[in-house]
Amino acid sequence: MDMMNVQTLWLIMEALRDANQLEDALAKSLDIFCDATKSEKGTIWMLDDASGRTVAVMAHGTSAAVGESASRGEGVVGEVIATEKSRAYKASEVQKLKYAGVDGPDITGKSLLCVPIKTPKHIIGCLLLTGKADGEYTQADIDVCENCCSVLALDIEDKGFSFRPFEDRKPIVTVRGIIKEFMSGEEIRRILKGVDLDVFPGELMVVLGESGCGKSTLLNIIGGMDRMTEGELLVEGKDMSQPSEDELTEYRREYIGFIFQAYNLMPNLSAYENIEFIGEISDNPMDSMEALRMVGLEEKGNSMPSALSGGQMQRVSIARALVKNPKIILADEPTAALDYDTSIKVLKVIEDIVKKRNTTVLMVTHNPEIAKMANRVVKLRDGKISSIRVNLHPLNATDLVW
Ligand SMILES: Nc1ncnc2c1ncn2[C@@H]1O[C@H](COP(=O)(O)OP(=O)(O)OP(=O)(O)O)[C@@H](O)[C@H]1O
Ligand SMILES: [Mg+2]
Repeated sequence: MDMMNVQTLWLIMEALRDANQLEDALAKSLDIFCDATKSEKGTIWMLDDASGRTVAVMAHGTSAAVGESASRGEGVVGEVIATEKSRAYKASEVQKLKYAGVDGPDITGKSLLCVPIKTPKHIIGCLLLTGKADGEYTQADIDVCENCCSVLALDIEDKGFSFRPFEDRKPIVTVRGIIKEFMSGEEIRRILKGVDLDVFPGELMVVLGESGCGKSTLLNIIGGMDRMTEGELLVEGKDMSQPSEDELTEYRREYIGFIFQAYNLMPNLSAYENIEFIGEISDNPMDSMEALRMVGLEEKGNSMPSALSGGQMQRVSIARALVKNPKIILADEPTAALDYDTSIKVLKVIEDIVKKRNTTVLMVTHNPEIAKMANRVVKLRDGKISSIRVNLHPLNATDLVW
């Protein structure tokens, strides 16, 4: 063993001796890895057994990747997790690579090294280093990282540190391999091309993606407003993949509150009546006044929609979704038609629904700033999920700026 190896091993062991939390162990080791290999940036990724995805949890020299995740086999990280073998790439090769198979910090033109973090029995994550200051990663770098990663893995196992990015929850919605095709003239167009997604109870999930990538289609399928061509949808374990009309109606009534970009209020009913009307056809409705109060419109119950502003109408439509006491609220661009101040008011209501009522909210938006208030952010690209990000510190709606 050469000197670099011995020294680095010693440093890692010293650092781990004092680490009494997973975060601590990872942060200290990562600094040492970056130093020892002269890397500009580094990230540590941990495998989440529950979801099968590997999530970036710790970063050095960048924070851009934290929360990114990759499935097994996907991108550089996914490949190392699947093969359990280190991979080094020259700067010239990196041009063609994608970070985790998905979005992520720009690594073009930088050398890259990815090393599994594993015990003799199983793999628990990987280390990714980029931008070696003095050229390409060498066999010596690989050796030192592999040795130190084994020490790190054993320490993590020994101390019983566990990694639970999405807590220990069962998903409320499970989407597997959803495909949706539409007829366009003579031609079949495949809009969703195999979507896999878990939504956890009480989370605010934001779905981003370019116009036409299938966001509304996905939301409509999850909400029982449209049928999938192929795939699986489970809601609290109940199979809603190919429901009968009756099952669909009951599912929508019992589980789902929808908020659209267009408010779809009945023009001849007052704000209160618009809400009351939905409450009456629900099994377990909230008091209509209570729903109005939640959106801050208790004074406006008697107003007709034509006498309300856009933001007020949208809040009535949120109250209408809330009055059913649904477990899941699906919101499709709820603020797209609103100005900034009004958008923030509406987003604050959505935040309250999640935080105070523990309702699960799935919200589609074009606005990446809004994604900062989410617990997780899903990017849809060309009918597939291209990335899922965890926001370790979601912002309050009132702190969003655009
Ligand atoms: N009922 C339908 N029949 C045929 N094609 C459809 C139908 N609904 C949607 N599409 C097509 O599916 C694609 C995805 O539509 P979708 O509304 O899901 O996109 P989106 O991501 O919500 O876009 P936007 O951000 O513009 O709302 C589009 O090309 C659209 O034309
Ligand atoms: Mg849409």
